[in-house]
Amino acid sequence: MPRVSVGPSSVEAPPGQSVLESLLRAGVWMPSSCNQGTCGTCKVRVLSGAVDHRTSPLETLPQEQRDAGLALACQSHPAGDVEVAPAGPASAGAGEVRTHPLRDLVARITGLEDVATDTRRVLLSLDEPLAFSAGQYVELEVPRTGERRQFSLANTATEDRVLELHVRRVPGGAATDRWLFADAACGDEVRLTGPLGDFRAPEEEADDGAPLVLLGGGTGLAPLLGIVRTALERHPDREAVLYHGVRYASDLYDTERLVDLEQRFASFRFVPVLSREETRAYRTGYVTDAFLADVASARGWTGWLCGSPALVESGAAAFKRRRMAPRLIHREKFTAAVPAAPGSPSETLTSPLTRTGA
Ligand code: FES
Repeated sequence: MPRVSVGPSSVEAPPGQSVLESLLRAGVWMPSSCNQGTCGTCKVRVLSGAVDHRTSPLETLPQEQRDAGLALACQSHPAGDVEVAPAGPASAGAGEVRTHPLRDLVARITGLEDVATDTRRVLLSLDEPLAFSAGQYVELEVPRTGERRQFSLANTATEDRVLELHVRRVPGGAATDRWLFADAACGDEVRLTGPLGDFRAPEEEADDGAPLVLLGGGTGLAPLLGIVRTALERHPDREAVLYHGVRYASDLYDTERLVDLEQRFASFRFVPVLSREETRAYRTGYVTDAFLADVASARGWTGWLCGSPALVESGAAAFKRRRMAPRLIHREKFTAAVPAAPGSPSETLTSPLTRTGA
């Protein structure tokens, strides 16, 4: 069986597994995000041996980069023994750090709750716990299609038996419109793989209790819920503010849960913002503008952004304007796994390029 080596680690690569998958299944960390060949986070340099690029898109890995010995770890498969090194900037610790091993599990649907317009909370119960970090995502196998979709976890790491997903319906989406919003029922079995992604709360020993701001759009709230609750439980006095941007008041959900969090942690603030509706109850505008209006300086703060690519990019620009260090800005972009119908919202899952699973 071929072996994949990175830094001090060397693992077996069973047939059918990508370079990244073979490492993650062995618990060896490598930078990654979308697992779909779209973000480029997992780009590696092939130091020895060769890979088969398989489904690597030319947009993410142009021919000249292939010719220069680069590959996408999440799409390429080893062609014999291969040694790689991460080619991206956030690669410190690759091959050295252990991560929660990627696993295949069977879960059972134990909750399907409509929480807002076209938005469902899905609970998946596991027979055995899944080790993950708050903010990561799982891939679900969509029944009868052979397709997989990614959904962020709203859990903290201790909530490892019942996984909570927030799902936005995408018209025509195989996972949402034709499954989770159609014939899915409590008691159904679901096959899943996880955990995945580098959008995650830091390890406890690396968490110094610095203030943080979290900014999410729509079901981009999901991973932020896991991250902010983890952060507050570790450092109950830390300053934290979570902005949740939606279009209309009917798109808001989990407000009571977040108000309850405000009451438990005096230094936490929750700010819902509506972009297309004016009411007395909520602020109006864009979440990034609300952040800019509220915060004079975010120097030393950590930032977490999750939602549409536009929201994430404008949020990152706003954080930088308030002097947040770029290395402290964490991003998770949601895109629909299939093109949404014109004028419809994207399905929500997350792969750092999809976690809105259509
Ligand atoms: S391109 Fe491989 S993780 Fe995104």
